[in-house]
Amino acid sequence: MNEERSSKKVGKAVLDAIKSGAPNVDLDLLPNLMDMSPASITENVHAINSLCKDKRQKFLFEQLVTHLHDFAREVGLTTEEWMTAIQFLTSTGKICSDIRQEFILLSDVLGLSALVDSMNHPVTASATEGTVLGPFFTEDAKELKAGDSIASEGKGEYMWCEGRIVDINGNPVPHCKIETWETDDEGKYDTQYEERTEADCRGRLISDEQGYYSYRAILPTPYPIPNDGPVGALLKSLNRHVFRPAHLHMMFYREGYETLITALYFKGDPYLKSDAVFGVKTSLIVDPVLVKDESKAKALGFKNGPFWHLKKDYVLLTTAQAEEQKQKSLANYYASLQ
Ligand code: BEZ
Ligand code: FE
Repeated sequence: MNEERSSKKVGKAVLDAIKSGAPNVDLDLLPNLMDMSPASITENVHAINSLCKDKRQKFLFEQLVTHLHDFAREVGLTTEEWMTAIQFLTSTGKICSDIRQEFILLSDVLGLSALVDSMNHPVTASATEGTVLGPFFTEDAKELKAGDSIASEGKGEYMWCEGRIVDINGNPVPHCKIETWETDDEGKYDTQYEERTEADCRGRLISDEQGYYSYRAILPTPYPIPNDGPVGALLKSLNRHVFRPAHLHMMFYREGYETLITALYFKGDPYLKSDAVFGVKTSLIVDPVLVKDESKAKALGFKNGPFWHLKKDYVLLTTAQAEEQKQKSLANYYASLQ
């Protein structure tokens, strides 16, 4: 190749890309990435990614590339297997829409959502544990007064939910916004019915001055996670089931406190030990009591008895306590690596 051809002449496409924001780096300062071998390729990718100016992003990509490359080497990844994975990810992306997030579902069934959640909300002896949010939260829950029902009539067995929201010293958290949602006795969220016209089996309420809350609900039932897409096909190929144990989702917001996203699970549920998305924590398993007294049921606003009585207090961390816990748990983790 002659001198002129190899000079730094660039075409219009390169100039346009630079104008539209693509970084223009000094090519002479870059590492030589030619003739890469399985042994040199990882170091070369690190070398070129080290141009990244954001320290955290640089670190994340260094680790990501290291682990991805090690994975490919360790399993002896074939071209066919990698294409299968790419096709899987492509179909996962294609099925996503404003109301369906298949990538979150993938993260859920791989246990990654549960892992990230538990690292960011480390367990403390005193505060209520969190768990996965799931894809069925909506913003349009009805605003309820204490004692109102989140479920319309005929949606399942009655359940009376009550308790207090407190801080780690047992002081009330008043005016705490509570969001709660659940499946009906067919194991479906309202959003899974095509004819849905308004929110059902979900509600929003506020704790009183003493941190007390109460509402009527129904006993939720186990249900399958969405499994008509690529993630469902993946679980089938892994010979895994697609069920979640019955649960009652709860979310708590109050300024100055760490938002708590959690759920309660029910003693005796057949799927407690093998939740498809790894959301169950022993501390979140409850055992409501069946109350047969018809007059008590009526006094609480149910049409008749019996009803399940679910009494549960929730303990919130302040924002500062939550941050301190997170830093402590990260420091312990790094120390354990040494
Ligand atoms: C749920 O709890 O509703 C849920 C969580 C993760 C994946 C699918 C569903
Ligand atoms: Fe759920």
